[in-house]
Formats: sequence, C-alpha cells, structure tokens
Amino acid sequence: MPSDMETPSSKTTEDSNTKPEDAELAKAIMARRFHPSAISPETWEGYIFSDLEIRIKESTDLYGAVLWPSAIVLCHFLETNQDRYNLTDKNVIELGAGTGLVTIVSSLLGAKVTSTDLPEVLGNLEYNVMRNTKGRCKYIPLVTELIWGQEVEQHFPRATHCFDYVLAADVVYAHPYLVELMDTFDHLCQENTQIFWAMRFRLDPENSFVDRFQQRFHLEELYDLPSMSIKLYRAWRKVKRTKD
Ligand SMILES: C[S@@+](CC[C@H](N)C(=O)[O-])C[C@H]1O[C@@H](n2cnc3c(N)ncnc32)[C@H](O)[C@@H]1O
Repeated sequence: MPSDMETPSSKTTEDSNTKPEDAELAKAIMARRFHPSAISPETWEGYIFSDLEIRIKESTDLYGAVLWPSAIVLCHFLETNQDRYNLTDKNVIELGAGTGLVTIVSSLLGAKVTSTDLPEVLGNLEYNVMRNTKGRCKYIPLVTELIWGQEVEQHFPRATHCFDYVLAADVVYAHPYLVELMDTFDHLCQENTQIFWAMRFRLDPENSFVDRFQQRFHLEELYDLPSMSIKLYRAWRKVKRTKD
C-alpha cells in the first residue's frame, strides 16, 4: 500500500453541516470556468489552470463532447492537492475523458496520461488535448479507445500496464454499461493504484453503483458538494486479485 494510502477519514461533527464549505468550495471551483468570447459556430468552454487558459471545444450532439461539472471538480482537486498527490512522472489513465479537461490538467501537472473514451469521441478529445498540451507538458498524452469491458486485457495487459492513478469524472449515470465499467476499474486498478473519481448523483442506479463499488474498493470521500450533486472519491483495491 502506498504511503499516502491512509485509511478513510471519519466524518467529524463539524462536517455534518457541510453547507458553508459546499458553497465556498463550489464557488472556488466554478470560478475557474470562463467562456472564451466570440468563437463560433462551435461551443467553447474555458478553464483557468494556474496562470494558463485551457480552451475546450464542445459539440452538443454527444455526451462525451460536453464539459461536465464533475471534470472541473476533479481538476480543482488535482491542482490544489499537488503536495499530497503529486502527479509528476506518474502513470495515469482517464476513463470516459470526454472533452479532455482532466487529461489536460493531469498532463500539465507532469503526468504521463493515457486518455480514453469511445471511438466517436476521440476526434474532438484529441483536438482539445493537443491544442492545450502541445509545448506545455513534459509528456505528450496518448489518446486512445477504451470501451468499458471490451478487450480491456488485450489493449491494456495487466502485466505491462501499471497505472499509479485511474481518473474518472461523471462516468456513472443511466447507461447500460455499469457492470462493464466496474470490471474496467477492477482490471486497471492494481495493488498500488489509486482512483480519483468525481461522481454526479442523479438517480438511484448511481447510489447502488457506489454500494457495489465499495465491495471491491476502499472509498474515501474527499469532497461533498450537495449544491452540485457531486462527490469526489479516492479509492483503492480492497484485496489482491486472486487471478494475478
Ligand atoms: C457524462 S460524460 C463525462 C465526460 C467527461 N469525463 C467530463 O466529465 O466532462 C461520460 C463519458 O463517458 C463516455 N462513455 C460512455 N459510455 C462509455 C463506454 N461504454 N465506454 C467508454 N466510455 C464511455 C462518454 O463517451 C463520455 O465521454
């Protein structure tokens, strides 16, 4: 177990009134967002990382081509917790990367990032990733297909693909691949891997996914943002896989 994998912190009585912290944190997180002016006909979103502007091209016809608030929450955490979770030179994979903000921020933080999503999303993802990381990052991110549950061992053999971090923002919602997604987390997460997962709660299936997730992984709640219906979790494997 890595040294920074302490047991999940228990909630204090102060935490039971989360509203002020929620409001302040949500405000700080969303203050990073800006709208680059007069770029049309596409939709663009902007994100402030340190002293850099990240510009994200969206397309309204695909889920994966919109920047979701969970991604901004996860990016804010990664940037403001660099001392605790240092991504420099770390092997990172992002699931359901969408428009690529989390991949871009992780790359700017010095990680070697593999950015994955469905084939139809990769064109826009690659465009955003290259536009915002070229000449700015130590490692050029790799953008590649990963369809949850499909040929994951062929594309990412566990013997050769060891990730320090698995990142995911808003990947659990009412889609029919929740079992495949769980198996993909399971496949990619080795003994020393940590997962950072920003979760937007919309309907009951999301709650039951968290319950099932906890059967395989330890879960620490890092942020609770009721005003955004988002929680940010850190997770790591409970037991070593017997198949390994
Ligand atoms: C709600 S979007 C979130 C996108 C991005 N992470 C963000 O927060 O802005 C969900 C993402 O999961 C991807 N996705 C959905 N089903 C998938 C599957 N079966 N395999 C791989 N990716 C999938 C979508 O293409 C999309 O990019």
